[in-house]
Amino acid sequence: MCGIIGYIGDKQAQLVLLNCLGRLEYRGYDSCGIAVSSRSIEVCKDAIRVEALKKVMPQLGGTVGIGHTRWATHGEPSQVNAHPHLDCTGKIAVVHNGIINNFQRLKEQLASEGHNFVSETDTEVIPHLIEKYYDGDLEKAVEAAMGDIEGSYAIIALAAGEPKLVTVRKDAPIIIGIGDRENFVASDVPAVLDSTNRVVYLEDNDIGVITADSIKVRQHGSKVTREKHKISWTVEDAQKAGYEHFMLKEIHEQPKVIRDTLVGWVSGEPAADLAVMRDTGVEAMLILACGTSYHAALIGKYIVQELLRIPVRAEIASEFNYYAQTLAGTMAIVITQSGETADTLRAMKRLKEAGCRLVAITNVVGSTASRTADQTIYTRAGPEISVPATKSFIAQLMVLYWLTMSYSKIEARRLASLTMELRQLPSKVQQVLDNEDKILESARYLSGYENVFFISRGINFPVALEGALKLKEISYIHAEGYAAGELKHGPFALLGSDTPVIAIVAQDNTYEAMLTNIKEVKARGSPLIALVEEGDEAIEKVADSVITVPRVDAIFSPLVNTAALQLLAYYTAKERGCPIDFPRNLAKSVTVE
Ligand code: AGP
Repeated sequence: MCGIIGYIGDKQAQLVLLNCLGRLEYRGYDSCGIAVSSRSIEVCKDAIRVEALKKVMPQLGGTVGIGHTRWATHGEPSQVNAHPHLDCTGKIAVVHNGIINNFQRLKEQLASEGHNFVSETDTEVIPHLIEKYYDGDLEKAVEAAMGDIEGSYAIIALAAGEPKLVTVRKDAPIIIGIGDRENFVASDVPAVLDSTNRVVYLEDNDIGVITADSIKVRQHGSKVTREKHKISWTVEDAQKAGYEHFMLKEIHEQPKVIRDTLVGWVSGEPAADLAVMRDTGVEAMLILACGTSYHAALIGKYIVQELLRIPVRAEIASEFNYYAQTLAGTMAIVITQSGETADTLRAMKRLKEAGCRLVAITNVVGSTASRTADQTIYTRAGPEISVPATKSFIAQLMVLYWLTMSYSKIEARRLASLTMELRQLPSKVQQVLDNEDKILESARYLSGYENVFFISRGINFPVALEGALKLKEISYIHAEGYAAGELKHGPFALLGSDTPVIAIVAQDNTYEAMLTNIKEVKARGSPLIALVEEGDEAIEKVADSVITVPRVDAIFSPLVNTAALQLLAYYTAKERGCPIDFPRNLAKSVTVE
């Protein structure tokens, strides 16, 4: 949830840290700060964005330092609660991502031993604990302190006069960026991409000691070697390429994302070796995820049931952890863009313990999910920076099509026509993007309302959920996605001239029922925005605003419909002047439960 960074090398650490922090802000952005060490440690932090901090920051001398951009969990965003946190002597500085569950007990104990606390954070106990065990060897003191801590953490520690960084992780990500005469420690790859594309991923309970020219990793006291990875993403991938927002850039990258997925597909490489399903007589499939990835899981349910003809449950990972499950003979797929979502990782642990075969669909190479699963399928979306997920969702759907069509049980002619249509999907989605101006009109129409319903049926019901989530996340309009058939069982009471309804209508077996629902909505006075296939005159007649998408096979309609709804949310938020890439109270990967 927070972004942490460490630098040690031959450059002045201040500027390096601030630049890296700028590329970590999508992980949390309510406050930030850095600490730079030479003979003593100097700290500058406040409840402001990185760019603002750069403007007010005095010159801090030193070639080793740490930095943090925050998503508050304990203590409101403020100068004193911002990281880095120091111990009483000011000789130990720490940045932390995660939650210390037993911090209150530790704080009381340390206070009784004479330690003074200044913030409301859980994190502040860490530098005080390290100080308690410190005898001139930072590594030993950090290790001892971890013995007292319970919770999830990615930590980087610094001690005045010690030219090294010490880092440790448990249930939160840490990568080490390998440079020439310099090294980096960071929450994830985009932070270091403009300096290096060589990284090492730390495992849970690893402790790393990093100097300018060495990286040492130990686990439970013994030296371990972690594999070096060469990252294919470029720094440009993690920049805006001239677009006003990362979200708009990432929406416009979707035709390429579909093409990149198809490249792997048509070259005959299987998305995943699903033969295991046949061999092990998998009777059922369970797809788990959170947020937007859960909506992909729900669409996956329709695709898998239609193409593989096996029963599928799609479930919210955070809820999955609360009810008894019979998992025997179940193949489980988890979907997670970041690969670090705590609720999803907890569900994965439970599935592993139950002996389920676990496949992860994720966008981040080396993420915790990819190292927990039996098999990992990487989506080919490239780095997704904007908090509202867009291209990763489309990439997840493409992998689900790839997975199921590779093993489908439907008759050959239908499969052949679907396979034919695959090649046109990038240009079909491009057509939606080219229709941007028309969508902008509907967005202007929508931007004046505070409550909105999205409705649809069948495979597009989850698209209604996703459209509502995108609008909620970035425009702050209260939007609800609803199965169209459910409106009459209650929500009808909320309809009226101040509550528009957005209906997603596909030319499939849901069409007639949707037409009826649209008339019911109009009869109750709600303005109607219809998302329909081009040439659908029947609905154009009754709608107040119409967004058209090109005709595709119904099973692929979530791709074109979602792209249109992403743009609708984007332009509505823009009309309302919202901070699109960094919506309030959110973060890109949610690493706490
Ligand atoms: C979507 O726009 C949000 N950023 C959020 O709902 C996200 O989908 C959810 O937190 C799951 O993240 P994951 O795919 O990285 O696991």
